[in-house]
Amino acid sequence: MRSKKKLCVAGNWKMNLNLSQAEDFAARFEQIYRAHPQVEVKIAPSFTNLYRLVQLFEDTEVDILAQNMHWAEKGAYTGEVSAGMLRSVGVYGVILGHSERRAYFCETDKELRRKVQTGIENDMEIIYCVGETLQQREAGRHFDTVRRQITEVFFDLDPEDWRQVKIAYEPVWAIGTGKTATPGQADEMHAYIRELIAGKYGPALAGEVMILYGGSVKPANARDIFARPNVDGALVGGASLNADTFNDLVEIAKGFFE
Ligand code: PGA
Repeated sequence: MRSKKKLCVAGNWKMNLNLSQAEDFAARFEQIYRAHPQVEVKIAPSFTNLYRLVQLFEDTEVDILAQNMHWAEKGAYTGEVSAGMLRSVGVYGVILGHSERRAYFCETDKELRRKVQTGIENDMEIIYCVGETLQQREAGRHFDTVRRQITEVFFDLDPEDWRQVKIAYEPVWAIGTGKTATPGQADEMHAYIRELIAGKYGPALAGEVMILYGGSVKPANARDIFARPNVDGALVGGASLNADTFNDLVEIAKGFFE
């Protein structure tokens, strides 16, 4: 069985928490959070809170990520934020391809491929979301959907570029719905993704890529999900908004290495 070297717990705040709420979160989280060398902790707030959270978490092991970015370096793209701008405020990672961005903002694989390229060129860490809709799962097209999402965007990368990439498998039907994929369903898809990467880049590289699960992860179900051999952590929405709950998830992850 594959043995995990690390787990990653990443919070995606989406369009939640204003500045003072983010500061309250940071103050509380700093009181209770204890870093662990095998547990990566990341928080992705909205753009307006990035700079402040980078400052507040400066002396901790917590990475602050953006939830999106544009593919261009700069220019006439009203409302957009570039990789260079993120780096200039101390943000070196980004979530790309979230299903909400695909569904509500019409992001396509083609556009996401450019964003991934920009992220790689700018030495950003990328958490890249993939996942099928309920309709696709019911039609038995979940593996095909995820295969297309990954191969069309990633299979031009040089092997060393994968060091910057984590995949997050987030079945759309499990996001914010309270419905979690069973740990077995998550592991099955994670194993599939790993095989796909192994087919192109070899098993050693595929074994190193961290594959997170996302979709209604909370302290009550995290242990079972983290326990699966192909699951390397979680991308967490709702349960990341409260510092105590989020820290509970981090503690559960730490439990696997103690
Ligand atoms: P959720 O969101 O944990 O609220 O389901 C997960 C996500 O969309 O990343």
